[in-house]
Amino acid sequence: MNASTGTQPAAAPSNDPLLDVFDRMGMTVASGDGVHVVDSTGKRYLDFYGGHAVASLGYGHQRLLDALTAQAKSLFFQSNAVDVEVRTRAAARLVKMAPRGLTKVFFVNSGAEANENALRIAFLLTKRPKVVAVAGAFHGRTAAAAAITDHHESWYAFPRKPFDVTWVPFDDVAALEAAIDAQTAAVIFEPVQGVAGARPLSTTFVKAARAAATRAGALLILDEVQIGVGRSGQPFAADHYGVVPDVLTTAKGIAGGFPVGAVLVGDAIAAQVKKGQLGTTFGGGPLACALVEATLQAIEEDRVLERVRRVSKRIFETCCVGPVEGIQGLGLLIGLRLSRPAKEVLAELRARGILAGSSHDPKVVRLLPPLVVEEEHVAQLAAALASLPRQAALENSR
Ligand SMILES: Cc1ncc(COP(=O)(O)O)c(C=O)c1O
Repeated sequence: MNASTGTQPAAAPSNDPLLDVFDRMGMTVASGDGVHVVDSTGKRYLDFYGGHAVASLGYGHQRLLDALTAQAKSLFFQSNAVDVEVRTRAAARLVKMAPRGLTKVFFVNSGAEANENALRIAFLLTKRPKVVAVAGAFHGRTAAAAAITDHHESWYAFPRKPFDVTWVPFDDVAALEAAIDAQTAAVIFEPVQGVAGARPLSTTFVKAARAAATRAGALLILDEVQIGVGRSGQPFAADHYGVVPDVLTTAKGIAGGFPVGAVLVGDAIAAQVKKGQLGTTFGGGPLACALVEATLQAIEEDRVLERVRRVSKRIFETCCVGPVEGIQGLGLLIGLRLSRPAKEVLAELRARGILAGSSHDPKVVRLLPPLVVEEEHVAQLAAALASLPRQAALENSR
């Protein structure tokens, strides 16, 4: 540390022009088609990672290419200061897919921004100081979203949190009910925690949260940034749990790879949000909305949800092999619980031409593939897993 400037000594300069802040896989992806990506050496990988749950329709989907090209030719961008028909159509499609009662959409650019605005709505409407969040949560990296994200000690970095947070242990109904009170503006959680390792909350917990938030006059916010828009096997995980939140946020796969986030609310909340209280320049841009419309249309017309449920079932039935000791999750957000470090298993899968994701749990590999994977791809994954040792080589030789 340089005492006068407070900075670290400069590291040896690298030729990479990108800020080195990501834990990268050590490969260069050059192209993709269907559920495969190809690296710069020409090696093909079956993609059970999906660019972190984003490539919901895989790569090179004709409907997305057509929608993007047509929209780019007719109108590349206009802000929310003017009406754009494709924005209204995309919002209407999203409302049609959303749990009944969520009738209005505010488009933004990312999951964190969606959560930031969901929280803003809760504070604006309730004028209360506190948020209840669930241990293990990941809600994004902006100031408010990160304040309700667990395990952020090493990177939160802002000098103080913008509001009070009460943390509830995972799936602890008694603690949840005790935490929600007259000071609570919002209760927020991912119905299936993604970064934590594809951990679903119980229906009892989710329903208790709905009831307790209503009793206390707090808003229930469901973060479906990762599990939403078909990944659960239902339009939204809220449908799986039989609960309608006051606010629902989603992002990632909603536009197949184009950056879009969305905040959905019902009429009662919409009536209380005033002009100027929310805003964005890029959110709801025509290219983004054309891709939202095309993605949601494909999910509906290609009967993608049925496929998600079918393929998910096959993963649960066939992938508990090799180092996999248990399987958790919902739809195509799945955690493989391992007898060995996930890092090793991910590297071994990659050597066999399969990509998957890590999680905050060092012994869980996360599967977040395009929603268009098929049973034949699961068979390849199961065979690759079965070929891996249950224990690391070193442990076997002891
Ligand atoms: C559940 C959940 N919420 C919010 C976010 C943040 O989304 P973004 O990275 O688009 O800001 C993520 C990202 O992984 C997420 O998984």
